[in-house]
Amino acid sequence: MEARGCARSRRPLPALLLILLLPPAAGAADARWSGQGTTLYLQSIFLGRCAEYIAVLSPELRDKNCTAIWEAFKLVLDKDPCSVLPSDYDLFINLSRHSIPRDKSLFWENNHLLVTSYAENGRRFMPLCNVLYGMVGDFLSWCRQKNASGLDYQSCPTSEDCENNPVDSYWKSASIQYAKDSSGVINVMLNGSEPTGAYPVKGFFADFEIPHLQKDKITRIEIWVMHEIGGTNVESCGEGSVKILEERLEKMGFQYSCINGYKVPSGPPTQRSFLGLPPTVTWILSSLLLSLPSWLPGPHIFYLYCTSNLTFFTEACAPAITCVLRVQPAQNSYQEVFPSKIIHP
Ligand SMILES: *[C@@H]1O[C@H](CO)[C@@H](O)[C@H](O)[C@H]1NC(C)=O
Ligand SMILES: *[C@@H]1O[C@H](CO)[C@@H](O)[C@H](O)[C@H]1NC(C)=O
Ligand SMILES: *[C@@H]1O[C@H](CO)[C@@H](O)[C@H](O)[C@H]1NC(C)=O
Ligand SMILES: *[C@@H]1O[C@H](CO)[C@@H](O)[C@H](O)[C@H]1NC(C)=O
Ligand SMILES: *[C@@H]1O[C@H](CO)[C@@H](O)[C@H](O)[C@H]1NC(C)=O
Repeated sequence: MEARGCARSRRPLPALLLILLLPPAAGAADARWSGQGTTLYLQSIFLGRCAEYIAVLSPELRDKNCTAIWEAFKLVLDKDPCSVLPSDYDLFINLSRHSIPRDKSLFWENNHLLVTSYAENGRRFMPLCNVLYGMVGDFLSWCRQKNASGLDYQSCPTSEDCENNPVDSYWKSASIQYAKDSSGVINVMLNGSEPTGAYPVKGFFADFEIPHLQKDKITRIEIWVMHEIGGTNVESCGEGSVKILEERLEKMGFQYSCINGYKVPSGPPTQRSFLGLPPTVTWILSSLLLSLPSWLPGPHIFYLYCTSNLTFFTEACAPAITCVLRVQPAQNSYQEVFPSKIIHP
């Protein structure tokens, strides 16, 4: 299971690979567990993030006490690293909890690279890692030594080692609270290029978030299945695991919609095919997409309409085809962002 946060993946190596990499004699040498050891300067990072959050990012949370929040959190650092339950974080959550703006919740699976850029540090969306209790632990690892007091800086358990490990239990606890406090339109971003399926039927979203969504506070659920441009399109709305999710939400009585979207390649435009168009067109379009104004509500979906009137892309498009780029903002209204005069190279 992948941990929450914004960009962290703790997916352990497959067991077979581990066996190949670690001959029995060498294996015992240092790492007991398969996860990263406790992050150096854990306490300083935690307190620094907390202070920044309440002083700079969300001054309305001034009355939070970061020292008290840290003290509640560090109770788990005295526990056996395989005996930490989500409920061990209750006091921590209680002290750090704050409301999540309506319509701003963003749930996700297998899309960590996108989540941060779409969320824009809480301005557009507020995913769990932009909430105080999710931010303080994002990217970090922590656990006590197995048989002694003091932190283990060599390794920490993941779900491969034991279920009740400190980091997974933290994310479970935070995910549950986040789901309970979410309201309005719930946005779910899935990765339609993920070979194992866009919606993991066992995962944080499936096991700890969906069950805790509060139906009376939620108007509808919007699923975005994002595809890598030029990557394989493994699943779309209504297919495979996405269908399983849609059926589950329907059975639970939620209003939902599912939309296929495309991820703009990050970094300099690459010569990849965009919806099957030749690279020259893709290159120009990518440059335009990358300069999308950030105030547009997102996530964006890019449609390319080709109508029968060639005005540009003469060499790339087949003759007698006009390409018009439209962007659909989250509100489902169509908006033509780039009139042809701007698209025209
Ligand atoms: C913050 O919490 C700590 C530890 O619980 C406590 O000693 C301190 O007085 C609190 N500070 C404020 C301003 O309440
Ligand atoms: C959490 O805070 C609420 C008040 O906001 C309080 O009633 C409750 O007892 C607290 N729970 C814990 C575990 O501290
Ligand atoms: C989506 O999944 C593919 C395949 O696992 C991966 O390469 C890609 O980075 C993922 N996209 C995001 C935005 O995380
Ligand atoms: C840890 O403690 C248990 C029980 O006291 C003992 O059996 C085990 O050998 C110890 N392991 C290490 C690495 O010290
Ligand atoms: C194509 O272009 C011609 C001349 O510019 C214009 O009169 C015509 O309406 C256009 N047709 C379409 C379908 O846009």
